[in-house]
Amino acid sequence: MQQQMNRQILFVRRPVGMPDASCFKLVISEIPQPVNGQILLQTRFLSVDPYMRGRMNDGKSYVAPFQLHEILDGGIVGEVIESKSTNFVKGDFVVGNLGWQDYSIAGEREVRKINPEIAPVSTALGVLGMPGLTAYFGLLEIGQPQQRETVVVSGAAGAVGMIVGQIAKIHGCRVAGIAGSDRKTRYLIDELGFDAAVNYRTIPDLRKALKEACPNGVDIYFDNVGGDISDAVISLINNNARIPLCGQISLYNDLQIPAGPRIQPQLLTHSALMKGFIVRNYADRFDEGIRLLAHWLKEKKLKYVENITEGLENAPKAFIGLFAGENLGKQLVKVS
Ligand SMILES: NC(=O)c1ccc[n+]([C@@H]2O[C@H](COP(=O)([O-])OP(=O)(O)OC[C@H]3O[C@@H](n4cnc5c(N)ncnc54)[C@H](OP(=O)(O)O)[C@@H]3O)[C@@H](O)[C@H]2O)c1
Repeated sequence: MQQQMNRQILFVRRPVGMPDASCFKLVISEIPQPVNGQILLQTRFLSVDPYMRGRMNDGKSYVAPFQLHEILDGGIVGEVIESKSTNFVKGDFVVGNLGWQDYSIAGEREVRKINPEIAPVSTALGVLGMPGLTAYFGLLEIGQPQQRETVVVSGAAGAVGMIVGQIAKIHGCRVAGIAGSDRKTRYLIDELGFDAAVNYRTIPDLRKALKEACPNGVDIYFDNVGGDISDAVISLINNNARIPLCGQISLYNDLQIPAGPRIQPQLLTHSALMKGFIVRNYADRFDEGIRLLAHWLKEKKLKYVENITEGLENAPKAFIGLFAGENLGKQLVKVS
């Protein structure tokens, strides 16, 4: 149902360390009106993502920082409720990078139409969207998995990690996941078919546990978290190992990056490759990625999980929860 007002979430304070509620402010404004070539969307789902923490700092990075007192933006799935574009009609569902608000105006090129017959529209923010594509290109292009190789993925029960492990299984690999609760490690093994999973929060010696989980060493390490966890995995790599460097969430709230072991000798002596990547490097191949991910979904080779928080007003809480590991699978906010 259409409301008469437009709630918006502004970014009002740059966090020092862990973000908290005081970084955000909910305000109310008028519903915007589209002009020719534009559409008016009602937000159905919004995505909270770890990379947004980097945008909260006032520093140079691969995406521009959020501006103070402006609306936060991120991945949104919306329904077209008014169209002044010949490319969209009322009732279409679209995905794009738009504001944290109930209603948004979008230009024709700012959004992509979603086919709700393939999967629920929310998946355009998860398995059939940015996180799924990150897993797909990072693992297949940089990881180059081969049958019977051992793949370790950290952040394994999150949006990206869960898909990485399952794609590795599709490619015939042995897969070990690292995650932060027993509920998560059990889920990885029982529901997603991982061969092993380790709870890094409770295990006294992570390296020892990983060695047991990976009796043949580590051929691919898909790094979502960095820090001590990655140090432990990298100490177990095999010759010609590949390390897709996807995220470093364990460091995002640190004021100073802690010094770690020097890993270059380990990479050198094992002829290993470590390569950082940003998913949009593969933007010209996104259609291919979505097609294959959708194919695996249809074939039931790939499962997805969504952790859904209700209400736009709870988006900040859902975002902060990412850093406490509150989500199993893709964290979304259902707005309407
Ligand atoms: N390169 C790219 O283009 C790209 C694109 C998308 C995402 N990423 C990166 O990929 C990673 C995963 O993103 P996602 O969207 O899939 O998020 P996610 O895994 O769904 O959510 C974040 C998870 O990180 C874990 N975590 C939080 N703080 C941690 C810490 N201090 N140490 C270890 N684990 C911690 C938590 O799980 P536990 O309970 O297991 O701790 C939490 O559930 C992030 O680092 C993100 O920045 C990169």
